[in-house]
Amino acid sequence: MITLITGATSGIGEQLAIKYAEQGDTVIACGRNSEKLAELAKHNNIQTCQFDATNLQQIKSATIGFAHFDRVILNAGNCEYVDDARNFDSALFERVISVNLLAMGYCLEALLPKINSGGQLVLVSSSVTYLALPRSEAYGASKAGVSYLAKSLAIDLNDVDVTLVHPGFVKTPLTNKNDFPMPMAVTAQKAADYMIKGIHKRRKEVHFPYRFTLILKALRILPLPLWLKIAKGLAR
Ligand SMILES: NC(=O)c1ccc[n+]([C@@H]2O[C@H](COP(=O)([O-])OP(=O)(O)OC[C@H]3O[C@@H](n4cnc5c(N)ncnc54)[C@H](OP(=O)(O)O)[C@@H]3O)[C@@H](O)[C@H]2O)c1
Repeated sequence: MITLITGATSGIGEQLAIKYAEQGDTVIACGRNSEKLAELAKHNNIQTCQFDATNLQQIKSATIGFAHFDRVILNAGNCEYVDDARNFDSALFERVISVNLLAMGYCLEALLPKINSGGQLVLVSSSVTYLALPRSEAYGASKAGVSYLAKSLAIDLNDVDVTLVHPGFVKTPLTNKNDFPMPMAVTAQKAADYMIKGIHKRRKEVHFPYRFTLILKALRILPLPLWLKIAKGLAR
């Protein structure tokens, strides 16, 4: 099996790359950080590929030597919070939408034609999409776009299975900077285990840790005004 993973130089993507390689897959680990890519390349079964996922031409030229994939996992992403919504920072908004959502479009144009018939496409979104959360105007909007994109692709792609991933909190460099409690946070290793299991079963949606994501899913039945009141309380 040939598995390409974006965002493989850190956190969840790095664990996915190592675990898939240990299972015997040929892994193409992607990212920008050349030092981390060189470290990954020391593992058996891992090849590396360097590109900025917000640059279509870079993706196309970096992946030109790879003819086909069985699995493509679009996991690269970043999070920046909106600290002052009244003075909206459109540059921050653009950065987050660009790496989390537009980059998916570039990767799809470059990589989807190379996924074998019967192969798999995995899009990593976030459980933030279940409910509007404070300071998440940019991150939440970008990930809501990813979730919609994945669901729509699942309808339109006939010979490629799409899996949409909604992680809860995972302890990685991305969340190290969070200055608030992260209920039921799991390690990147555990997150990769949940994902590998769900992807293997070709699940349409993989979400974890279940207790956390099920609580969020249940809260979605609340009328919007009531949820907004609760969320305003969380923001304080
Ligand atoms: N951690 C969580 O709690 C959590 C929860 C829900 C969803 N997620 C999602 O899970 C995914 C992985 O997150 P993580 O926590 O593992 O984050 P992480 O440790 O910060 O890793 C992010 C990865 O994305 C890559 N990346 C960022 N910008 C890129 C760009 N412009 N071009 C190419 N690669 C880029 C980084 O590689 P380079 O720096 O080498 O480019 C890195 O490998 C993200 O999509 C995130 O939104 C995470």
